[in-house]
Amino acid sequence: MRRVMVVFGTRPEAIKVAPVIKALADSPLFEPVVAVTAQHRSMLDQVLELFSIVPDYDLNIIRERQTLTDVTVNALSGLSPLMAEARPDAVLVQGDTTTTFAGALAAFYEKIPVVHIEAGLRTGEVYSPYPEEINRRLTTQLASLHCAPTQNNKANLLVENVDRSKIVVTGNTVIDALLWTVGRRVPYEEAVLNEIEAGTAPVVLVTAHRRESWGPGMEAIGRALARLALAHPEVRIVFPIHKNPVVREAIVPVIGEFANVTIVEPLAYGSFARLMNRADVILTDSGGVQEEAPSLGKPVLVMRDTTERPEAMDAGTVKLIGADEHAIVSWVTRLLTDQAAYDLMANSTNPYGDGLAAARTVDAIAHFFGVGEAATEFVPEVSTLHTRAEPHVEPAA
Ligand code: UD1
Ligand code: UDP
Repeated sequence: MRRVMVVFGTRPEAIKVAPVIKALADSPLFEPVVAVTAQHRSMLDQVLELFSIVPDYDLNIIRERQTLTDVTVNALSGLSPLMAEARPDAVLVQGDTTTTFAGALAAFYEKIPVVHIEAGLRTGEVYSPYPEEINRRLTTQLASLHCAPTQNNKANLLVENVDRSKIVVTGNTVIDALLWTVGRRVPYEEAVLNEIEAGTAPVVLVTAHRRESWGPGMEAIGRALARLALAHPEVRIVFPIHKNPVVREAIVPVIGEFANVTIVEPLAYGSFARLMNRADVILTDSGGVQEEAPSLGKPVLVMRDTTERPEAMDAGTVKLIGADEHAIVSWVTRLLTDQAAYDLMANSTNPYGDGLAAARTVDAIAHFFGVGEAATEFVPEVSTLHTRAEPHVEPAA
C-alpha cells in the first residue's frame, strides 16, 4: 500500500479533497494520510465533520487577520518536519491557496512527488485573483502529476510546457462532493433558513471574500446590496458571511439592518448546497460556487474582473460583472424582473465534472506509480476562453 499524504487548510480545499480521501481509503492500493494546516478553523471543521474526516496531523496555524506571509511561513515550517517524519510516497494538494503552495513546496524539499488536483486554472493576470494565480502557477512548477478538471485547464498547462504524459483530465472533485451532499438533503440548523425555504420570496444568495476586492470592491458590494434591498422589498437577500473580519467590517454595517437581508454565519456545506438549490440568483466571488451553481441550473453573477473558470460562462449560466456597484444592481434587477433574461441563464450544465473525478484521480495516481491503465478522461463541454469581464453595458430595462 502506498501512502498519500493529503494536505489542505481551507474550506474549499476540504470540500474538494473529501471525495479523494474517501476514494483513496476505498482503494486496495492506497492509504490516505490527512494533514491539515488549519489555515481556516471553524470553516474547515464544518467540512471535516460533514465528511467524517479525522486528520492524522493538525497544525492549527490560523491567526486572526493573518497575512499571506504568516500563512506561508507557518504552513511551511509545520509541514516540512511532518513530511520528513511521515515520509509518504506522494503528497496531494488541491487548488491554489497558500496552504496548497506551501504543501507542494514542503514536499519538494523532501523530494516527495506532488500530485496537484484542480491543476491548470489560469486568468493570465498575476494579481487577479490575488494571491491564487501565483500560488497555482508555483504549484504547477512543483508538481509531478497534474489532475486538470477540464480540457481548457489541460491546454493551459500544455502552453506552459508541462509534460503531456503527466496531465490527466479528471473533472472537478467539487461535483463529486456536491452530488453526494445534495443527495443527503441535510436539515438546516438555522430556523430562519427553514422559513426562507418554505416562503415564496425570490432569494438572492450572496457570498464574497476575495482579497483583491478588499477595500473599494467590498464597499461597492455592500452599497449595491443596500440599494437592492431598498428597491426590492419583496426579495430576500441571504448572505452567509465569511469569517474574515475584513469582510464583515465592510458588509455588516452597510446591510445588517434591512428587514429583507439575512446575514448568517458560514453554513455547513449541506445547508449551503440546499440553499443554492432554493436560490433564484447567486451573486458571488467564490471559485467553488461558480463551479457548483451551474449543475443546479442557477444563474450566477460573478463579482470579479477575471475568471479562471470560463466554461460556465460559455454555457451561459455564469456572467462576469466585476465588484462594481452599478453592474451588480443592474444585473440582479434584470434577473429579478426580466423572465426571458432569467431563462437564458438558468440552464443546468455540467462543464466541471460528472461526479467521477475522485475515482479518475485515484486511477491517475495508481498509473503514475506504474499500476493499472491510464485514467479515462472526463470530456467537458467545449469552451472558448473568456477570462476578462466585458465592459459593463447597462442591460435593457
Ligand atoms: C483563503 C484562501 C483563498 C480561498 C479562501 C476560501 C489564501 C491566501 N487564501 O482566503 O484562496 O479562496 O480561503 O474561503 O490561501 N477566519 C476565521 N475562521 C475561519 C476562517 C477564516 O476566523 O474558519 C478569519 C481569520 O481571521 C483569518 C481570516 O479569516 O485570519 C483570513 O483567512 P485566510 O485563510 O488568510 O484568507 P481567506 O480570505 O479566508
Ligand atoms: N460554502 C459553504 N458554506 C458557505 C459558503 C460556501 O459550504 O456558507 C461552500 C461552497 O458551496 C463552495 C465553497 O464553500 O463549495 C466555496 O468556498 P469559498 O467561497 O470560501 O472559497 P473559493 O471557492 O472562492 O476558494
